[in-house]
Amino acid sequence: MKTKIIAHRGASGYAPENTMASFLKALEMGADGIELDIHLSADEHLIVCHDEKVDRTTNGEGFIKDLSLKMLKELDAGSWFDEKYINQKIPTLEEVLELLIGKNILLNIEIKSGPIFYNGIEKRIVEVISKYGYINQTIFSSFNHFSLVDIKKINNKLKTAPLYMAGLVNPWKYAKEIGADGIHPMFYGINSDIVKGCLEHNLFINTFTVNAPHHLKSIIDLGVTGVITNYPDIGLDLKIKKSI
Ligand code: G3P
Ligand code: CA
Repeated sequence: MKTKIIAHRGASGYAPENTMASFLKALEMGADGIELDIHLSADEHLIVCHDEKVDRTTNGEGFIKDLSLKMLKELDAGSWFDEKYINQKIPTLEEVLELLIGKNILLNIEIKSGPIFYNGIEKRIVEVISKYGYINQTIFSSFNHFSLVDIKKINNKLKTAPLYMAGLVNPWKYAKEIGADGIHPMFYGINSDIVKGCLEHNLFINTFTVNAPHHLKSIIDLGVTGVITNYPDIGLDLKIKKSI
């Protein structure tokens, strides 16, 4: 089985994370999927950004929950990475979905939920994903597994995967218990038994965030269904070599 190469916050090793530039770069490289993070603005727009504050990745400051879409759109989300990205803005989920129209690419939406909580964020995300007809190509993940249970309550057909850091021994049992379709573990906590167990239980296993080439090689060799990486080109290269 071929491992899906999922671009973490877009091709964030080469362009500012969670911007249209990083998503476009991932598409150009031929990534099988993109991962992004979602928060809710003060006026309840779905905002693509990793941190709960804009301070690290823009020239602004403050919590996303306190800023309107208009205020967020005034920020420069690219220069912190490289001056040539000065025109990059924080995208909305809708804008990213516009980019994906007609492309057969996996979308992994990480719902950021806690310690800042966004009331009704799950419902809002599902509405937008449905509007764009992207339900079958989307995986919802979160470190807050209550959010994933909520997603399943909205529509049981939506695909969910809990994110976790530590090494659960029988993660398929837990995944089944919360109705998930797969798991998204940190790559340090997995081995061949975990991969085998997941596949035997019809669960996908996409692991994060695998960046060093030697790590990418050993994790792809384990036969995981997906790797989430800042360097999709390296993952894709290894995948091609493996299939020769
Ligand atoms: O989806 C995997 C990974 O994105 C989770 O961690 O902190 O990069 O959002 P983080
Ligand atoms: Ca993430």
